[in-house]
Amino acid sequence: MIKIAIFASGSGSNFENIVNHVQKGDLLGIEVTALYTDKAGVKCIERAEKLNIPVHINQPKDFISKSSYEQHLLKLLSNEGVQWIVLAGYMRLVGEDLLHAYEGRMLNIHPSLLPKYKGLDAIGQAFESGDSVTGSTVHYVDSGMDTGEIIEQQQCDIRTDDTKEDLEERVKNLEYELYPRVIAKIIK
Ligand code: GRF
Repeated sequence: MIKIAIFASGSGSNFENIVNHVQKGDLLGIEVTALYTDKAGVKCIERAEKLNIPVHINQPKDFISKSSYEQHLLKLLSNEGVQWIVLAGYMRLVGEDLLHAYEGRMLNIHPSLLPKYKGLDAIGQAFESGDSVTGSTVHYVDSGMDTGEIIEQQQCDIRTDDTKEDLEERVKNLEYELYPRVIAKIIK
């Protein structure tokens, strides 16, 4: 079994979708050790509890530095034997400590066709752009914001009569197919 940890900061629908795939046997050989979140009271925690996945809540503000926060996470990750980190809506730049330990073994999904629309509200940026297509990208994580090596992208239309919510839903639905597929291909 390859052990992965999933990091999320908010809703956690991609987290839930990945766990569902694992629990249904669609991601053979992969075990999700825990959800790691940097925020208390967020929806992903509820989802993890329903799925019987352990949760680690660690808020950077409770540590003296980013490095001590990440060193604490590294201890937890090492205790659980985590080999890969999968970011799914983790709203924080990964620091040197985690990167040094997991570079090349850390994935992220970003809701745009990178290198377009990095950073916050990528779907809003695409919606406002006048583009007729957008999508989502799975990439390796490096020290930049959404800059790591691209592994795979999937695209969808932006329709002229879309609301931003329509587009968000279309991109999310595409991610529920894209991320498990890339995880199965890359994490071996
Ligand atoms: C996803 O759209 C992902 O691409 C981005 O953050 C969003 C997380 O959504 N990095 P959710 O928390 O999985 O619902």
